[in-house]
Amino acid sequence: MLQHWSRAIAHIWGLEGSLMQLDGEYDLNFSVATPTEQFVLKVMRPGCEQALVDMQCLSLEHLHQQSLPTQVPVPQVIITLEGQNFTVYHDPQGKPRIVWLVSKFEGLNYAHFQPKSGVLIHQLGSYMGHMSAQLESFNHAYLKRDFKWNLMQSGWIEAELGCIENLERKEIITTIVEQFKALETDLNNLPQQCIHNDVNDYNILVQGSLNQAPYISGIIDLGDMCLAPRVCDLAIAGAYIVLDQTQPEQALAQLVAGVHSSAPLTAIEVALVWPLLRMRLAVSVVNSTLMALDNPDDPYITISQGPAWAFLQNHRMSGGLIEARLRFACGLPLNTAAKPTLAWLSEHSGAFFPLLGADIDLNQAPMVDLSVEGSSIPQDPFSIQPHEAQQLINPNLQLALGYYLEPRLVYTDKAFKNGSWPSSNRRTVHLGLDIFAPAGTALHAPLAAKVEAIDNRQANLDYGGVVILRHQSPRGDEFYSLYGHLNPSSVTQLKVGQELSAGDVFAHLGEPSHNGGWDPHVHVQLALSIEGMGYDWPGAVDPDDINLWQSVCPNPSLLLNLNHDVTQYSPPSKDQAQQVRQDHFGQNLKLSYAEPVMFLRGWRHYLFDEWGRPYLDAYNNVPHVGHAHPRVAQVAAEQLVRINTNSRYLHPSRSAFAEQVLSHMPSELSVCYFVNSGSEANELALRLARAHTGAKQIITPQHGYFGNTTGTVDISAYKFASPRARAGGLSQPDWVHLVDVADDYRGQYRRDDKAAGELYAQQVAQHIATLKTNGEQLAGFIAETFPSVGGQIVPPPDYLQHVYKHVRSAGGLCIADEVQTGLGRLGDFYFGFEQQQVVPDVVVLGKPIGNGHPIGVVVTRPAIAASFAHGPEFFSTFGGSNLSCVVGTEVLRIIEDEQLMNNAHDMGKLLFAGLRKLQKEHACIGDVRGFGLFVGVDLVSDPDSREPATQIADYVKNRMCEERILMGSEGPDDNVLKIRPPLTIGAEDVNHVLHMLAKVLQEVRVLTS
Ligand SMILES: Cc1ncc(COP(=O)(O)O)c(C=O)c1O
Repeated sequence: MLQHWSRAIAHIWGLEGSLMQLDGEYDLNFSVATPTEQFVLKVMRPGCEQALVDMQCLSLEHLHQQSLPTQVPVPQVIITLEGQNFTVYHDPQGKPRIVWLVSKFEGLNYAHFQPKSGVLIHQLGSYMGHMSAQLESFNHAYLKRDFKWNLMQSGWIEAELGCIENLERKEIITTIVEQFKALETDLNNLPQQCIHNDVNDYNILVQGSLNQAPYISGIIDLGDMCLAPRVCDLAIAGAYIVLDQTQPEQALAQLVAGVHSSAPLTAIEVALVWPLLRMRLAVSVVNSTLMALDNPDDPYITISQGPAWAFLQNHRMSGGLIEARLRFACGLPLNTAAKPTLAWLSEHSGAFFPLLGADIDLNQAPMVDLSVEGSSIPQDPFSIQPHEAQQLINPNLQLALGYYLEPRLVYTDKAFKNGSWPSSNRRTVHLGLDIFAPAGTALHAPLAAKVEAIDNRQANLDYGGVVILRHQSPRGDEFYSLYGHLNPSSVTQLKVGQELSAGDVFAHLGEPSHNGGWDPHVHVQLALSIEGMGYDWPGAVDPDDINLWQSVCPNPSLLLNLNHDVTQYSPPSKDQAQQVRQDHFGQNLKLSYAEPVMFLRGWRHYLFDEWGRPYLDAYNNVPHVGHAHPRVAQVAAEQLVRINTNSRYLHPSRSAFAEQVLSHMPSELSVCYFVNSGSEANELALRLARAHTGAKQIITPQHGYFGNTTGTVDISAYKFASPRARAGGLSQPDWVHLVDVADDYRGQYRRDDKAAGELYAQQVAQHIATLKTNGEQLAGFIAETFPSVGGQIVPPPDYLQHVYKHVRSAGGLCIADEVQTGLGRLGDFYFGFEQQQVVPDVVVLGKPIGNGHPIGVVVTRPAIAASFAHGPEFFSTFGGSNLSCVVGTEVLRIIEDEQLMNNAHDMGKLLFAGLRKLQKEHACIGDVRGFGLFVGVDLVSDPDSREPATQIADYVKNRMCEERILMGSEGPDDNVLKIRPPLTIGAEDVNHVLHMLAKVLQEVRVLTS
């Protein structure tokens, strides 16, 4: 068959090319590749009307007119040798078929493309706007045909509803049909024009790569064009765009905003988008249900309905709120009353009756800071405790105000959560204004009102008693105010519809026992419309939706005669923090991630940004026992109020810390030194080696990192051998000798070589031999037990045994830097050297031991300490301070008490199993290695050559951060994903990491294919 159609293109268009058959529902489609160009050959179904093809060809020609300001990427028709848009050619069976040829776009179907970002969807919308503007002047007789996919004619499904057996589904479709019928007048009043009518996810092509933002490369298949209001086109595209989105309403808003940017929509059109979108989905599911009945043996028909049914069943979003969102996306006012109402409120603000009565001037009340930045309530941002909720403000304050638009972590109930992971998004931003005052305080109507609703919401952390009042501006525009956390019995005395005059007492503040469990206060919220939300107003909203909600519920300070600027929260500015950093910090202090993040709170393995958005921390190893561990905070605070002096005085905390540290060490290592950092500890380790051996020569692996001081940089090849070393005035000192990292994945000796450990260690022996020849003496060998910046490497199991043997026979000391690997992170081993079955001469501990407080520890043998003691006094002012000692001791105790090493083992096992599964599915995962929660995922561009995939690692790390999961990248080529979370991480979090990593790796597959 291919040969037949090859001959056809040669004959009709004079083209020589290879053909490949493409998918097509009714017609045959072939991609045609000539040496210079790509085309699509379209062979129409037998009996196809010529007008259908003529309409498409002419419309494409119309869209390609040079005079158009924006070229929408639609295919170009290739004229036959005889100068026609299409012709007739007989198929192999001798049937006449209309054939035509169009240019082919590069790109992948939107359906299969990942990621489907808001920017991409907006661009699609913008092209659609241009296309509808350009098609307005196109006409063709065939546009007027009867057509079941014309939304204007979609009422046909009503007669077919009997085909849906499932009652829930049937009810959904019935409702959609009823809503559609109610809109018919509006729809019929809209002008009709030529529309594409089928911008579905297979008719949109997308291109992009790891370093090029995805863009719409083509919109194809104009075969469903018809006459209809242009909003139908938008609704149809919307019906596909929303389907596989976790936040469909945001995606739809992007599409609508995109259309509006190039073809401004009217408010009536915006109002039609959502009901028409649902009607299109209804037509799809009814149509495929009928098809499934006709083709009972074709399971694909039923499967293909799945996403549309799932959407209709699971996303019962309020049409009113979606309309508000879409209007907002287009920059349209919430409704016609919003602007004049706000203007009237502003004009009269100051003259409304004081809510707490004429004697109380709220302007004198202090603001209380309950923000993510300024408050430590609740201590556990996932579970506010009753005593915390009941004491939000200083009990000495009689009156205080809580900010409008303040991000807070107090909303811990699951009702505020959006998603099923522990760190899923949540509603944090307060949409009202709080007035803290004693329980029983009377509330006076600020202006004349009718009682709209009263309720007693008894759930914990809900409102308790709540009242909604309806007001009217002199223009007759209605608006509403809500008062929550009231005494329910005061509220139940009200009647719905009851008239209130300004100043009338209508309720009293409730006690915690019946106001939802909160410190007595009233939450006051204003709404310019209750369309779509009824009486269920969200008191706190998602930070990403602040602007939208602000337009529905503006600052109620107007009604309370308060100053807007004083009562509206302004978050710490990320931009300013970045500017100060730029101006006043050294420029070689790097920020993580392409879009830097600002974190204001931490808890266990979670971090919260300035708007309270939760992040899962799968990266930071310093908060070893979890961010903001209350036990660490408590011992530190208590110690600071008692005493914090230096190690020249006796104090039991010092001996306790030493005993704790030594209890985990081999018995030979019995002398401790306390310092302030890993760098300082490694400096000291070098001095110990020099003092004990009288020598200076050091052997160390490539890519090692031991700290930021002059001495440690001298031994850190990661620094002195970096491409920027020369500019930094750094070079390899003549007393430092480098060996390969014992990397059995990418190094010269690999995992299948049983002697790999010995062979890598041989390099140490060779240096020793050269030193001997040169008459030099070895001070020692220093290595991170599992090289971290070297690429999260686990050396062959006998590597250090061989190395230590060589080093010791040359009189050198063996120094193990356990900053990254120590304290149970490896799950099976408390220290990395245990896995290597060696006992070092000096062990260096750092960051995790202070859980964020600066502590370094050096542990050595008594004989080495004795050699060092012959020299001058060793003293570190802050090393071993009382504070550091109690913190270090507590961290070590917590590791035991919370069995964190076991957890590292169990979570590591889960993580490795998931990563290995991903490795089978994604060729870019070359290696998964590590122990416990010290994990490296080595990304490669080719699994055979093991070429490091630096760009992929960069993409994955940054996309994971956008998905609010932190991980890092490491290794000489920066291609190894580094996963080393606080040891508190749980199974759901690990699954969350794996789930998102699978999603992002799928994007990588798409973007690199
Ligand atoms: C293995 C290793 N050793 C030493 C250090 C230096 O520790 P600090 O930054 O506390 O001086 C680091 C820091 O990243 C490290 O990773």
